[in-house]
Amino acid sequence: MTKTDTIIEREKKLISKALSLRFHPISVESASGTRIIDTEGTSYLDLTAGWAVANIGYSREEVAKVIYDQYKKLSFTTQLSAPSETMTTLADELISISPGTFEKKVWFGHSGSDANEFISKFIPVAAGRSKMISFFGSYHGQTMGASSLSGHAAQSMFEGRGNVVKIPYPNEFRPFSGIKENIKEQAIHFVKEVFATVCPPGDTAGVIIEAIQSDGGMVLPPEGFLQALSEICDQHGIYLILDEVKVGLGRTGKWFAFEHDNIIPDAIVVGKSLGAGVPISAVIGRKEIMDAVPAGHMFTASGNPISTAAAIENLSIIKEENLMSNATERGNQFLTGLKEIKKKYNFIGDVRGKGLAIGIEIVESESNQPDPLVTAAICYRSYELGLLVYTVGIHGNVLEITPPLIITENEVQEALNLLEAACEDVAQGDFDYAKLEEYTGWG
Ligand SMILES: Cc1ncc(COP(=O)(O)O)c(C=O)c1O
Repeated sequence: MTKTDTIIEREKKLISKALSLRFHPISVESASGTRIIDTEGTSYLDLTAGWAVANIGYSREEVAKVIYDQYKKLSFTTQLSAPSETMTTLADELISISPGTFEKKVWFGHSGSDANEFISKFIPVAAGRSKMISFFGSYHGQTMGASSLSGHAAQSMFEGRGNVVKIPYPNEFRPFSGIKENIKEQAIHFVKEVFATVCPPGDTAGVIIEAIQSDGGMVLPPEGFLQALSEICDQHGIYLILDEVKVGLGRTGKWFAFEHDNIIPDAIVVGKSLGAGVPISAVIGRKEIMDAVPAGHMFTASGNPISTAAAIENLSIIKEENLMSNATERGNQFLTGLKEIKKKYNFIGDVRGKGLAIGIEIVESESNQPDPLVTAAICYRSYELGLLVYTVGIHGNVLEITPPLIITENEVQEALNLLEAACEDVAQGDFDYAKLEEYTGWG
């Protein structure tokens, strides 16, 4: 038995399946920059960044040093009872990169889920209204409130809180209505219909949305939609919350993906890449929201010195290395290359993205219906060729490209070559689907 087989067998025996999404039989030994080394010593070019966490690349010396030094100086203090300098420095930094001239404050947690749990609890209290609106296909996390706000198939087994009304996310390639025209207008129409029926604006506390719906399938809303939604929220005194956990902090070429649409949310949720691999999340929002319930969302390790110090270093690397410009340039290179590949394979239905948040939608050639099995096959074959990519989407048929933002021009070309080779092998029938038995990702 190889070391990888042993780890996978032991994992199956010892660790809850509640944590498992599996795309390929990999176990990871180490990682550096954009490369992951498995327990057999094989190197992979990584287009996942560990679900958009390793934005500055893996295992950076600078962050390792900050963590080491911080631990020696102050291993722990909690925001619950005794603050330290790194908490306030990071809060200041997050406020300074967030648009909006109103007074803002920050809350710290450990995951996107606990941050969206904050939203679920605090927005209704701050607004003095009970209802929330969110979108089909959205993924906001796994705790009770965050899961209730989500509209993803992954949460379909669980009961949610009854105060959330879900409406279709405007998806130009695969509209919920089945009608491809006027997608923006259709979505606004839905908002107005729920206002007129089950969710009167006077009872609606907030609307939460992803500027790009990532786990929902890398769906970009049509131009002008977020602005129109923001205007409706302003009109009715409804808070607008942008969940930037996955696509925020530089990935789309700006600090926040919603900045491409010139809107100013009342609260922004970040997580994943904030700590460069160390768990930390944050909500940045209007003071009145953030202070709505003193001592109302407390976690012992919130704002801990290790995570906050790592996050400060992370943000400074993104600025100093111009990683947002690189995300824009490499993203354009990817999109251009992928659109060329699309011409050769009928099963590529759509290629879309912004910066380094890119999706490739895989379809049945004739019907254009989602094809999650071919998607899983391309994903698995890519792994066999040395390229890591995951699948997302409410139909499980979108290849997600979210590499570290440090990816180089040559590496993007290498990734395009490997993806094309994987597509070719699958198209030629040179892929054994029996390999997928345990590796269909979300399915
Ligand atoms: C947009 C978004 N929000 C929230 C979350 C939940 O974050 P976490 O897994 O850190 O709890 C995710 C995770 O994928 C996400 O993509």
